[in-house]
Amino acid sequence: MTYDFTKTPASLDEFWMPFTPERMFKKNPRIAVRADGMHFTDDKGNKILDMSAGQWCTNAGHNRPKIREAIMSQLDSLDFMTCMNMSHPSAFMAAERLVKVFPKNMKHVFFSNSGSEAVDTALKIALAYQRKRGKPTKRILIGREQAYHGVNFGGISVGGLSYNKSDYGGQLLPALDHLPTTFDLENAAFSKGEPDTNRGIEKANALEGLIALHDASNIAAVIVEPVVGSWGVIPPPKGYLKRLREICDKHDILLIFDEVITGFGRLGDYSASTYFDVLPDIITTAKGLTNSVVPMGATFVTGEIYNAFMQGSELSAELMHGYTYSGHPLAAAAAIGNLDTFEEDKICANAAKMAPFFEEALHSLKGLPHIIDVRNLGILGAVQFESHSADNPYHYSRQAFLKLYEKGIYIRFTAYSLTLSPPLILDQSHIDQSVSAIRDVVKSL
Ligand SMILES: Cc1ncc(COP(=O)(O)O)c(C=O)c1O
Repeated sequence: MTYDFTKTPASLDEFWMPFTPERMFKKNPRIAVRADGMHFTDDKGNKILDMSAGQWCTNAGHNRPKIREAIMSQLDSLDFMTCMNMSHPSAFMAAERLVKVFPKNMKHVFFSNSGSEAVDTALKIALAYQRKRGKPTKRILIGREQAYHGVNFGGISVGGLSYNKSDYGGQLLPALDHLPTTFDLENAAFSKGEPDTNRGIEKANALEGLIALHDASNIAAVIVEPVVGSWGVIPPPKGYLKRLREICDKHDILLIFDEVITGFGRLGDYSASTYFDVLPDIITTAKGLTNSVVPMGATFVTGEIYNAFMQGSELSAELMHGYTYSGHPLAAAAAIGNLDTFEEDKICANAAKMAPFFEEALHSLKGLPHIIDVRNLGILGAVQFESHSADNPYHYSRQAFLKLYEKGIYIRFTAYSLTLSPPLILDQSHIDQSVSAIRDVVKSL
């Protein structure tokens, strides 16, 4: 073998890492060298239970043979071809398969390389769509406080996390507004699943307030994560998403669901919109789309949106947008292998089956010191700690993450919370092992 990627690298200096306190990490690095199923092994030989699926990513579990087979078959026949004025089979095959399993109103899909790109693609399509149908004043994009929509300029603009934009000059796109967060510690703490606080409608009605302020004739689209992921798994209060849909319909505003995390089985189906029984106009996804084996993002649109572009001269591109790697053969092959894996192993059904056990186990942590909330929906969960201090607010979640790793369990922390998003091939033993480890660790904090 010419290449060996299983050894600790000689130098950690050159790689500038994403969203990581570099100096702290490089003093005590955690480096995975192999992975299979629910586990990975680090360079010190520790076998670690991956209760975060990398980063909400490997929903089908690690090292899936069908995905490998699809990628290798693609590589054996064609390594690369652009999809601009040329193409290759797997991009079309992946698109056809994906549209079949996504909600029935999603008829076409645009490929990119990440969730951030899928989101910016969605925002651009929304703006261009409004112009195509003769409504050019509809330019305002509405996001939500505490939302994460990736790191590109569009995504951080509609996003609602100040720490992701403050270094770059605050608000970035010119025409923006934000809905209030649905996070409601006071009324919804320790809710199981969607909080039943009677506040879903009221929270969604805030959109009516923004419409009164800006006028619907100026608003292009609303974008939300059906379940907030990155800030720490915030399921919407009951009725919220349905009400958003009603208001968008009433005022002719597009509704975009960012399903980079909720897509591919997390709520027991390929799309969370099936779970919530709400059909958006555009869906973005990534991560679980290829099991993250090859990067890929996808933006699904309705037939109505697509058809608005397929008008006029056939001489020029209908959408002035695209990436060199849109529909990359290896990513498309990975998406197809991933869909086969999902179907053969009934992965969505397993997620739905395990969700009640996951919920019960997580909520058994209520009452432990420092824990101020537990949230869950499908196979997504968060355990939120109180703030430790003004200069080190995330101390408890960070310490819990580090101590869990020492015990052989990887559970990411984001802000105040440990966030759980294990591969959807999990069984009850993985849930029991991690919840009992969290219990021990929290007692020792
Ligand atoms: C809801 C949501 N949108 C977009 C993104 C960005 O995806 P990526 O990191 O692949 O660019 C993420 C990443 O976690 C996400 O959770």
